[in-house]
Amino acid sequence: MAAPARISVLCSGNGSNLQALIDACESGRIPGNIVRVTVNRKTAYATTRAEKAGIPTDYFNLVKDGFQVSGEKDPLKIKEARSKYDSALAQRIMKDDPELVVLAGWMHIFSEAFLRPLKAVGVSVINLHPALPGKYDGAGAIERAFEDFKAAKLENNTTGLMIHEVIEQVDRGDTILQQTIKIEEGDTLEDLTNRIHGLEHELIVKATALKSQEIMDKRPAHP
Ligand code: GRF
Repeated sequence: MAAPARISVLCSGNGSNLQALIDACESGRIPGNIVRVTVNRKTAYATTRAEKAGIPTDYFNLVKDGFQVSGEKDPLKIKEARSKYDSALAQRIMKDDPELVVLAGWMHIFSEAFLRPLKAVGVSVINLHPALPGKYDGAGAIERAFEDFKAAKLENNTTGLMIHEVIEQVDRGDTILQQTIKIEEGDTLEDLTNRIHGLEHELIVKATALKSQEIMDKRPAHP
């Protein structure tokens, strides 16, 4: 039987999406193995979830690991620090020889310095974003969609979520899977947030399963 796809997961927080991925790998729904979970925040509960599942973890942080001084304001220095951090992170991740990188609640925007080396070895990076393709790029997507709904500016009263390939442009890149959500009169921001969070676990599992299968199918056949 073909070996499962090697998946590296990056998280910044609670890791409920990571948990969905762990469970789906364990049940065989995702034909993959999580080879490492990397976090950029020391307090990320994702670390505990990974440890409980026996998955190796890495805490790698822009400031703690000396790429940027705390409170840096100079945009040029920030850009340079981020580029060096991104490049070093790509090298760390590549040591595990992953075939897929999944950003599951990863709150750091990558530059080409992260994406280029992975692309060069054929590793795709996928991301979860709580909005539809081309809408509400960046942080606060759910809040911004809800504000537009309240101002009667949200097209068809509809927002959604997606899993997409990561390119340098934030929250763009080819969509792998998407799901629309209609906001109903009387919905609160909390209702919408809960609905999106409820659906994202399923969507990230489906997309990771699709990508993992694709990776396994594309491997050169051994005689
Ligand atoms: C998710 O809600 C996602 O939409 C956002 O960050 C959150 C991560 O949640 N980008 P968790 O860490 O997977 O619980």
